[in-house]
Amino acid sequence: MSEVYPIPAETAKNALIDEKTYKEWYDRSVKDPEGFWGEHGKRVDWIKPFTKVKDVSYNDDVHIKWFYDGTLNVAANCLDRHLAKRGDQTAIIWEGDDPSESAHITYRDLHERVCRLSNAMTEKGIKPGDRVTIYLPMIPEAAVAMLACARVGAIHSIVFGGFSPDALAGRIQDCDSSMVITADEGLRGGRKVPLKANVDKALETCWSVKNVIVVKRTGGAIHMVAGRDAWYEELVAKASPTHAPVEMDAEAPLFLLYTSGSTGKPKGVVHTTGGYLVYASMTHQYVFDYHDGDIYWCTADVGWVTGHSYIVYGPLANGATTLMFEGIPNYPTVSRFWDVVDKHKVNIFYTAPTAIRSLMREGEEPVAKTSRKTLRLLGSVGEPINPEAWNWYHRVVGEGRCPIVDTWWQTETGGILISPLPGATALKPGSATLPFFGVVPLMVDAEGKELLGATEGNLCIADAWPGQMRTLWGDHERFKQSYFTTYPGRYFTGDGARRDEDGYYWITGRVDDVINVSGHRMGTAEVESALVAHPKVAEAAVVGYPHEIKGQGIYAYVTLIQGEEPSEELRKELVNWVRKEIGPIASPDLIQWSPGLPKTRSGKIMRRILRKIAENDYGALGDTSTLADPGVVDDLVENRMNRV
Ligand code: WTA
Repeated sequence: MSEVYPIPAETAKNALIDEKTYKEWYDRSVKDPEGFWGEHGKRVDWIKPFTKVKDVSYNDDVHIKWFYDGTLNVAANCLDRHLAKRGDQTAIIWEGDDPSESAHITYRDLHERVCRLSNAMTEKGIKPGDRVTIYLPMIPEAAVAMLACARVGAIHSIVFGGFSPDALAGRIQDCDSSMVITADEGLRGGRKVPLKANVDKALETCWSVKNVIVVKRTGGAIHMVAGRDAWYEELVAKASPTHAPVEMDAEAPLFLLYTSGSTGKPKGVVHTTGGYLVYASMTHQYVFDYHDGDIYWCTADVGWVTGHSYIVYGPLANGATTLMFEGIPNYPTVSRFWDVVDKHKVNIFYTAPTAIRSLMREGEEPVAKTSRKTLRLLGSVGEPINPEAWNWYHRVVGEGRCPIVDTWWQTETGGILISPLPGATALKPGSATLPFFGVVPLMVDAEGKELLGATEGNLCIADAWPGQMRTLWGDHERFKQSYFTTYPGRYFTGDGARRDEDGYYWITGRVDDVINVSGHRMGTAEVESALVAHPKVAEAAVVGYPHEIKGQGIYAYVTLIQGEEPSEELRKELVNWVRKEIGPIASPDLIQWSPGLPKTRSGKIMRRILRKIAENDYGALGDTSTLADPGVVDDLVENRMNRV
């Protein structure tokens, strides 16, 4: 039996949703989805109100539509509709990498900035439906750029600033972006990131891009290409501060976000306008129990889906005050998170287990010396949180006072699917607990047979919710293949889970070839193809292994081409090579030189065995008799790299 933390009296008293309401709403949401969502769909402002709520099929052609005869504009929902009541309220608190730099931006100010950029983009020829790639650090202009795209009806595709020029180029080419919005340089932990130089490199192979808009962040020396590049500051200074938002169909794409799958190149996940906004704003309000006036801080980067839904769209649609942090948790000191909490009087704090684990290693003193008295609620996202980290977060950071919402979701789901609601759910450390309204989780075995009651299996979702992805950019077939064919008629999450006797879900991690490194998704196939692109590598197989801070580390088995000798130098070269090909987050932690890989007689690599060896669990390799050459396993075990 695991520990249970009951709902604190203080939380129960003030929460938006109590236990009874959760049960009533949840019941209705699954019995009468049309009625439930028809009502909650009204939480956003529609230009033309919808009359049709839901048109979904998880079979054959697979289509997902919500509120589909309505029209709206997302930027108008995040800005214009708040002006009368909260024009002077802070929309974004920006905290710079350097603790001496911060800013408060009101809704009125943010509205004007977005209007100016919208006009400047229109001037540059951007039309509804065009793709715009955003490659920016965590500065307010990132939110301005997202909202300006939404305002003019352009589809943004944000690429995380830590990705390499090659990764950026691939993501620009896949969707034929016609514009890139970037900065001269980024700033993280006192170090500069050469964003504009990376864009220049990427654009050597991208013909679709006509315009690059460059925000001046550091003032570092960069090269501006005449006729293509323009300074953001100059464009917005001369643009008009008013702009009429473009009326968009509910099902018009709002953004693309590339994410790793179990095979091949990253997938362009497509989210649309109406359903996404309804779902992001509703989950933000209820999961974080957001009350007017609360200061809310999500530490994610806008390059990931968490930044999209829970720094920008959800909070701003709700008229919230959202904090945007440019820096990292350990700069200039390991008290930084808690210093920022005190400085800006943060009430709700949302971060990733990997950050908690790395701060936990520094001991309690850097936390204890800060006040944190404004904190009311803590959140976790990105990977399973181990009970030890959960307890430390609860006891040390929250001083036992703040509930923790462990929120399970994915880039594909647009918003949180399984999570406690602070006033409605007793907590169990390590469990994401219960489904959000309208979400029907389903456990199946390997053959797809539904498992009932307390059980362990593969996690599927039975029916659609408004925030669900609609397709993969330019590849609806791959969309169907990736999510709806493993278990026909169901959305397969790729995650394994356990459901306990109280119906609580415990996510155990990916069951496919995706690994989760510091909360960042990485397809093992992507790292493998980067490795084999190196001239000295003949073959590579990549698996995850348990890593104390990162959750999972990257373990690569590498076979060199004939005549090449392993060396420490080559190991470093390969690590740098992968960093250059994909980005630092994909760097292998361990590389094992492998004269051979365990393959079946038909040539398929047996990853199960490679995973076991990487986990240092080589006693339990199971049946190896089907291998073409069982001898390679002995060599791999003998020379294994992870000897914990
Ligand atoms: C994992 C991030 C356990 C999971 C929002 C999922 C989690 C993948 C949790 C999606 C959690 C995310 N507990 N596992 N609370 N949150 N995951 O697309 O494996 O970057 O499938 O979205 O992260 O990662 P993604």
